[in-house]
Amino acid sequence: MRAAFIEETGPPDVIKIGDLPIPEPGPGQALVRIRAVALNPFDLYLRSGLVSMPMSFPYVIACDFAGVVERLGPGATCFRVGDRVWGSNQGILGRQGVASEFAAIDEEWLNPTPALLPDSDACAMAMVGITAHLGLFHRAELKEGETVYVPGGAGGVGSMVVQMAKAAGARVATSAGSPERVEVCKNLGADLVMNYKTDDLPSNLLAFAPEGIDVWFETQREPDLTTSIPLLRKRGRLVLMAGRTAAPTLPLGSFYPRDCSLLGFAVFNSSAEVQRRCTADMIRWIEEGLLKPLVGRAFPLEAAADAERLLEQNTIGKAGTLAGKVVILVD
Ligand SMILES: NC(=O)c1ccc[n+]([C@@H]2O[C@H](COP(=O)([O-])OP(=O)(O)OC[C@H]3O[C@@H](n4cnc5c(N)ncnc54)[C@H](OP(=O)(O)O)[C@@H]3O)[C@@H](O)[C@H]2O)c1
Repeated sequence: MRAAFIEETGPPDVIKIGDLPIPEPGPGQALVRIRAVALNPFDLYLRSGLVSMPMSFPYVIACDFAGVVERLGPGATCFRVGDRVWGSNQGILGRQGVASEFAAIDEEWLNPTPALLPDSDACAMAMVGITAHLGLFHRAELKEGETVYVPGGAGGVGSMVVQMAKAAGARVATSAGSPERVEVCKNLGADLVMNYKTDDLPSNLLAFAPEGIDVWFETQREPDLTTSIPLLRKRGRLVLMAGRTAAPTLPLGSFYPRDCSLLGFAVFNSSAEVQRRCTADMIRWIEEGLLKPLVGRAFPLEAAADAERLLEQNTIGKAGTLAGKVVILVD
């Protein structure tokens, strides 16, 4: 089968396109014919070696997938051959990735694809949607009527946070780095959209939520807590989920006397069962028209290295040439 894989960690050039044996589905696994995969910053960290996890070479890149069940392994009973499925969390913690024509995947990580949702959209919402759900609902326990701010509403996680918070009845503020991406955020339903390059964020957020922000979902790797924490409401929650090397200053005086909380998490610490609670809501919101994955650019499998370069230029290099997810069409 054709696959995009690496035999050593390094820059995008280490990604090879070639033939690998079709994997055999083991007990409780389904062999999935992969149609599309979506890239996440995490794929860049794994491929570059920035984050080290157990990895056997050749290591197939990418965590998020959508496709069709081709064959079932012994004891796999949750899906049938021909079912469309999508999911995340492959390529990590010793599991093989999914940028290949076939992948053998434990069926606990599979979700049914909504009938009208294209595979490119299904994979595009996988890790970012689960992340947004975990942060908003499992960690911050967002309630109807509360206010949320998420930087980067046209980004992968940000676009999911905006839509899910709206679906839950929150008032949502966000920001983007160009007039076009400000427009994208408005179309996702955000109540306040600022251009983080030209607008005064603190004064706009104060006007939007005079008593402060209930949930600040930080998506930036260098969070400025001296700005965000004073803007939190009493008992406000600040979700932190990016920036492994960051060491921000914590303004304690405006933090603990107002009963605020810092809530960190990483998606790969949640079990498949917990993540299925996230995906069940996502599927329902898709069917109700409340959630729409944002696909920015699609590449063929042969151009997987270019796809990672584009994501790297934007997520790490802040090039500002992308709104939404980078997807690789396998089939
Ligand atoms: N902990 C976890 O489990 C977990 C899971 C998933 C992701 N993450 C991490 O979360 C981070 C975001 O991931 P992603 O997939 O959403 O990345 P992404 O798609 O590249 O989005 C990044 C966003 O940041 C925005 N941005 C850049 N500079 C900004 C600024 N100064 N102020 C406000 N917004 C700014 C960009 O806006 P413009 O494009 O408009 O400039 C873009 O929308 C990454 O570091 C990733 O590793 C963590």
